[in-house]
Amino acid sequence: MVDLAALIADIAVAMAAQEERGQVASYIPELAKIDPAHFGIAIATADGRLLAGGDADTAFSIQSISKVFALTLALGKVGDQLWDRVGREPSGNAFNSIVQLEQEHGIPRNPFINAGAIVVSDVNLGGHQPRVAIGEMLRFVRYLTGDDSIAINEDVAASETGTGFRNMALANYMRAFGNLRHPVDLVLGTYFHQCAIEMSCRQLALAGRYLMLDGRHPDGGRVVSPGRARRINALMLTCGHYDASGDFAFRVGIPGKSGVGGGILAIVPGRASIAVWSPGLNDNGNSQLGTQALELLARRTGWSVFSPPEEGD
Ligand code: DON
Repeated sequence: MVDLAALIADIAVAMAAQEERGQVASYIPELAKIDPAHFGIAIATADGRLLAGGDADTAFSIQSISKVFALTLALGKVGDQLWDRVGREPSGNAFNSIVQLEQEHGIPRNPFINAGAIVVSDVNLGGHQPRVAIGEMLRFVRYLTGDDSIAINEDVAASETGTGFRNMALANYMRAFGNLRHPVDLVLGTYFHQCAIEMSCRQLALAGRYLMLDGRHPDGGRVVSPGRARRINALMLTCGHYDASGDFAFRVGIPGKSGVGGGILAIVPGRASIAVWSPGLNDNGNSQLGTQALELLARRTGWSVFSPPEEGD
């Protein structure tokens, strides 16, 4: 069995030595202020351990990783009816692309590209004001982690509200096709605030545990059914890294969801919930060092959804 604590320490040292760290997201001005030197990692294991290294306690903007939690809530509200309004196919395009929406009549390819997540926010609004939906989302991630200190960075939400012209275009376009039920500003208010939730790697690894535990909360409660947990993991594997999802599956081999804040949540079903964070992004908008760290971790542990568990794993 691999010594996880030693492996995490090795990975933190290897990542600290990397010179090519990618570019910090600048299209959300508030995110451009983050120091690219950060690297953090945390692993919550199915047997209840929590191991961490590097800047694992520094909170960062979870951005698109919030789409996993928002999808979980939306499926709880409308179940499979969600799939009438959002697809389940990789898009092969950038996270903020609009090109497929016209040909596909305002139905986004999947719930993890921005257009799909905006529809999910529309579902989560459910006739209420954004503060109700945002409050529900915060309560959900606090319940998943057991940590009431998790909060929204209002400066990041305001920064994106002031500059999110592409998301405004996506939302207006889908509203024109009848695929948004609420006014665009309310839907985007919900979406921008959920993206502005801040968590540390340690908190994020805890939040992902239900996806490694067949939908169970470690305290014994049920968050989602086993089948739903499997399907969310399947979407993370096929769509969680946008037009680099195939490459991530090839290199890392486990479901993962990235965010432009530089975080990645990765799930090894039955074994581990992993969070990595390094703010520099590659050309696809995914954390450069986060991806490398997960590749190293998967190679050294043998963790993959494409191979059976190792002896004693
Ligand atoms: O809507 C946006 O552009 C951001 N709030 C989230 C995008 C994101 O995190 C893409 N992930 N790599």
